[in-house]
Amino acid sequence: MKARITILSENSVIKPGGLIGEHGFSALVERGDEKVLFDTGQGYALVHNARILEVDLSAIRKVVLSHGHNDHTGGLAELLRVGPERDIYAHPGIFDPRFREMTDGPPKPIGMPFTRSHLEGLGARFKLSDEPQKIGDGITTSGVVPRKTDFETGDTTLLLGCEDGTSCPDPLSDDLSLIVEGEGGLVVVLGCAHSGLVNILNHVRDLKPDIPVKAVVGGTHLGFSGEEQMTRTIAVIAEMGVEKVGASHCTGLAGSARLREALGDSFFFAGVGAVLEV
Ligand SMILES: [Fe+2]
Ligand SMILES: [Fe+2]
Repeated sequence: MKARITILSENSVIKPGGLIGEHGFSALVERGDEKVLFDTGQGYALVHNARILEVDLSAIRKVVLSHGHNDHTGGLAELLRVGPERDIYAHPGIFDPRFREMTDGPPKPIGMPFTRSHLEGLGARFKLSDEPQKIGDGITTSGVVPRKTDFETGDTTLLLGCEDGTSCPDPLSDDLSLIVEGEGGLVVVLGCAHSGLVNILNHVRDLKPDIPVKAVVGGTHLGFSGEEQMTRTIAVIAEMGVEKVGASHCTGLAGSARLREALGDSFFFAGVGAVLEV
């Protein structure tokens, strides 16, 4: 069965017609009659872009959150105001306080901008687990991604708040990806890939050893990594035979250019309005 991914929120717009970009990520995942929203962007673009792309958000009852950062969860409240109750699938740590270290001031809060009770009052039914969760036929979350590579060291400017008011490096244990079965292979939909793209791809292969990964789409965080991580990630993508790589968001423009140079026509820029069918 075909899987179809449509980018609803992203930093850039690749289609004319009044769509807007924001620092964030959100994608509609369709497989047969199943419709799942993966992430909700920062809160400015989702409802607006969905209207222009003729996506009926009120018909989507299942939402998966890749992690708690506000550029992936900020659209949640506005989404819940459009239409009925929804099941929200995520890791139990999505409400933990999170910060970004700043060079010109105190750490900036970048965690989930709503309380759980506020969202539940708007119709959210949270289904939180660190294990892979089945969302629909052929659609599952990765659950927690084991960190096994030595070159995917994470982004040290991201912090986790502690109860005593201090903060420490954030392991981003809540980072998960969505695994969608398309025709002849899997599509892996990334939020920010804080676990490391190679760790994610290896974990997907462990979870679904009989189905090849055909496509990857979403934020890779390679824009925040060094040359070694970029080079080794490109090598793994090639070795696994991934046919389509739609990088965006935290990949950055320079990182995207680098991927395009290395992967040629396998690469596409997954900005707002991009559609991937597998
Ligand atoms: Fe993030
Ligand atoms: Fe992000």
